[in-house]
Amino acid sequence: MSIRHESAHLHVSGQALYADDIPLPANLLHAAFGSSTIAHGRIRSIDMSAVLASPGVVAVAGASDIPGENNYGSILHDDPIFAPGIVQYAGAPLFAVAATGYTAARKAAGRARVDYEPLPAILDIRAALAAQSMVLPTERVERGRPSEALARSPYRLRGTVLMGGQDHFYLEGQIAIAIPQEEGGMLLISSTQHPAEVQQVVAQALARRANQVIVQCRRMGGGFGGKETQPALIAAAAAVLAHKTGRPVKLRLDRDTDMLMTGKRHDFLADYEVGFDSTGRIIALTVLLASRCGYSADLSGPVNDRAVAHIDNAYFLENVAIVSCRCKTHTVSNTAFRGFGGPQGMVVIEQIIDSIARKLRLDPLEVRERNFYGTDTRNVTHYGQTVEDNIIQPLVERLAASSEYRKRREQIARWNAQHGVIKRGIALTPVKFGISFTATMWNKAGALLHVYTDGTVLLNHGGTEMGQGLFTKVAQIVACELGLPLTAIRVSATDTSKVPNTSATAASSSTDLNGKAAQAAAQAIRQRLAQFAAETWGVEPAKVTFQDGQVFAGEERFTFAELVRLANGARVSLSSTGYYRTPKIGWDKKTLQGRPFFYYAYGAAVSEVSVDTLTGETQLLRVDILHDAGSSLNPAIDLGQVEGGFLQGVGWLTSEELWWNSQGELHTHAPSTYKIPTARDWPSLFRVELLEGAPNREDTIYRSKAVGEPPLMLSISTLLAIRDAIASCGSSGQLAEITAPATPEAVLRALAAVRAEAKAGVAPAIGTEAAV
Ligand code: MTE
Ligand code: HPA
Ligand code: MOS
Repeated sequence: MSIRHESAHLHVSGQALYADDIPLPANLLHAAFGSSTIAHGRIRSIDMSAVLASPGVVAVAGASDIPGENNYGSILHDDPIFAPGIVQYAGAPLFAVAATGYTAARKAAGRARVDYEPLPAILDIRAALAAQSMVLPTERVERGRPSEALARSPYRLRGTVLMGGQDHFYLEGQIAIAIPQEEGGMLLISSTQHPAEVQQVVAQALARRANQVIVQCRRMGGGFGGKETQPALIAAAAAVLAHKTGRPVKLRLDRDTDMLMTGKRHDFLADYEVGFDSTGRIIALTVLLASRCGYSADLSGPVNDRAVAHIDNAYFLENVAIVSCRCKTHTVSNTAFRGFGGPQGMVVIEQIIDSIARKLRLDPLEVRERNFYGTDTRNVTHYGQTVEDNIIQPLVERLAASSEYRKRREQIARWNAQHGVIKRGIALTPVKFGISFTATMWNKAGALLHVYTDGTVLLNHGGTEMGQGLFTKVAQIVACELGLPLTAIRVSATDTSKVPNTSATAASSSTDLNGKAAQAAAQAIRQRLAQFAAETWGVEPAKVTFQDGQVFAGEERFTFAELVRLANGARVSLSSTGYYRTPKIGWDKKTLQGRPFFYYAYGAAVSEVSVDTLTGETQLLRVDILHDAGSSLNPAIDLGQVEGGFLQGVGWLTSEELWWNSQGELHTHAPSTYKIPTARDWPSLFRVELLEGAPNREDTIYRSKAVGEPPLMLSISTLLAIRDAIASCGSSGQLAEITAPATPEAVLRALAAVRAEAKAGVAPAIGTEAAV
């Protein structure tokens, strides 16, 4: 049912309380980080005298002030909270200072005098590959006989796909508040997708027990993956200062520090060779997939695994070999970002398919359709999962028809023949995205539900609200199970003392997981109440029904609140937990084989763009999307996720450029130099539809499908539409390689290459053709 976001009225009226808005005790201190200015080096000495003498300063804390473990890394313990003598990226936290005011803390933090002994820095993927500098051992996945199949392919192309990273640019930056409690306890208010991990890291850093640390999060002003592991650093630093001073400490990063210090989407390169037949069907593919992980492992293992597991997108790759290199560089440690490596894997195959189509002078859509997974044959992925729910072919056909893709392609060809400066391009790309955490153990959730004697319900679950509408959807589920109006349900802040040992709210799975856990808790309560009513009025428990705030037991009829009061008087427990774990899945992280995903979410998009060939500027003219959310729990919220995810992806692929200088300093650390999409980038015509009548074939909550991340990848259609427009400036059969983001500069570079080649009448340098 379409219901507005539970906090919509609070968001728009400014009444929603984010961490920074919460009233705090008067003895609160504000904190700021002091950070490294160089990419790699040994700290010879730090002179803190000017920091300590700065007005308002109460305390500073560095590595030696941490009572427990100086680490916030979750999987590998390779992320120091404060650099312990070596710095590994420009922006690395060295110490934190607590002062009586926010500005005082920031000013003081800049006054440390650090003497470094610089060490050689590896800054990009190529340099890391050359030095074999890796955060994790290289992995390989192979199926069929890729080398033999390549050798016998009638056509071959070789090339490189390049794509940049992305800053999360959540509107609310990283923030934590640490409030000391009695007997060494610590309460944290943290803007985090992963309260349980913040709890664990803070407990380890303070050498406390988990039961002494409580972490709460009511909402985030966006997370997008950037608050899966990074908040533990902020919370731990605040907690160390709170421990040292005995006073509450708030640590809120300003935007520049946030962008310099915290991890981003991984940039990737892919060196590939593909073999195909004259219809465009792929016979063999070999890919070296390499990403810039930064100085530590963080989530780079699972991110790169997901890239490997999405390099097929919706296509059957019979003979394939993938080498996955997780490169260590002296840059910020990259982390989760919406899609979690999936988008990067999919950009690679979509660019390859586009190249195949251009080489063969075919419509790229035809080539895509020829390579789609089948339903009975050609339906096993290279990681061993059978695609049981494939709906990509009919979904794409429907979108091609409703968007008039074929007719518009002809119109665009005519336009391009008549116009010299403004060129147009169109592309339709599909999405098939695996739903579940690849690490099987995280696919679980818990809930805690209380019913009070006025008939109202308070719910806690392990998921966090970052704007995606999780709390709304879970409240809807509980209301439905108890036959109550939505107004009777309140979802309160996520709290490690209510539901323990939770997973991150991530992998788009939080409604699947927490929705089912909350349903289990609500069903337990309903059964207890039904049992009580049945015994009291002598009817079968199954005959007791809950609807519209009423309960019917034979001839008897009560309001829910009346029944609850009677049950409470009869000493029936009105509180329950619920637990859920995803069935059927299992994945071997060593061999990258198994069934990592419970199911797949599908979608497709058509983008039409115009490109100004004099300035390189691009404009998104029209977008048509058909997206599969199963039986949508809340179409209004799901449409918002599709639109927002799509545009966030457009930002990644067209305008958001991270730029480091040769010293490894990030220069794009503010909105002045880093361009995220705004209202003006909204396509002139934007038609988004959810696929109707397509319930999830797996037993998910009310047969819905996860929707948080998959739509981001629909934006690949925009990149390829730009490529299509650029290609129209060359001769047919040219590849028109475009790197992402397709900024005006990148577009002009691609145009220059295409024109030079057209003039010379040679094949582009990047793609090489086999003897045909
Ligand atoms: N939507 C909003 N408004 N804000 C966010 O931070 N994060 C995205 C997506 N949609 C995000 C969002 C990411 S990265 C994920 S994994 C999912 O939401 C997580 O929530 P879900 O599991 O409830 O979909
Ligand atoms: N997706 C998102 N976040 C994650 C995952 C995943 O598969 N695994 C660990 N964190
Ligand atoms: Mo989302 S990248 O799984 O937080």
